[in-house]
Amino acid sequence: MSESWTQIDQYIESHLIPHDPRLEQNLQNTAAHGFPDHLAVAPNQGMLLQMLIQMNQCKRILELGTFAAYSTIWLARALPEDGYVLTIEGRDTHGAMAKENIELAGLSHMVDARVGRAADVMKQLIAEKVPAFDFIFIDADKQSYPEYLELSLELSRSGTIIFMDNVVRAGDIINFENKKPSIEGLRELYRVLENHPRLLSSTALQTVGSKGHDGFALSIVK
Ligand code: DHB
Ligand code: MG
Repeated sequence: MSESWTQIDQYIESHLIPHDPRLEQNLQNTAAHGFPDHLAVAPNQGMLLQMLIQMNQCKRILELGTFAAYSTIWLARALPEDGYVLTIEGRDTHGAMAKENIELAGLSHMVDARVGRAADVMKQLIAEKVPAFDFIFIDADKQSYPEYLELSLELSRSGTIIFMDNVVRAGDIINFENKKPSIEGLRELYRVLENHPRLLSSTALQTVGSKGHDGFALSIVK
């Protein structure tokens, strides 16, 4: 099955995803440094992120979990010239790779890449009373998603979109023998999303493709 999902993703990409040398260079440079590629969003998912940002004329984006900045490039290229992306990476080695890739893509002027625990950086942003973000992409350690959601709400305005990656994990969320902290964290996320007083609406969709079987959740802040 996964072979045909990948072939179908390639077909979709060949028709609908224009070549962008910045994205191609990102993948090449990341592989050249020996980093894996399965953590990056699929190109057609990157395009979905871009379209949600464009549809809502977002200008300020927060990303949790930069990894090698492939998704960061998608987020930044969706923005107008005066747009801004703040991206947070927890691991030093990945943070350094991300900074190099952001520089190579010529996006340093609009991307603020920080290294640190996302929750700590977010608490600092809340204390600094930074302007609200229009779009928040949660893609860091899955165990902490419930905490990241609550902190994201403190950095949101009415209408902010919160996109949470990897909330299906090949169905592990309903395999109740799986008690890994990451999976338990995702189950807690679903419980928190249910009837959250600060959310207007939420959903989750499963995805299959070159990245296997996973999914994303999407919320709008009330
Ligand atoms: C993993 C994390 C991700 O954010 C992703 O998109 C795919 C895989 C992981 O930790 O395995
Ligand atoms: Mg992800």
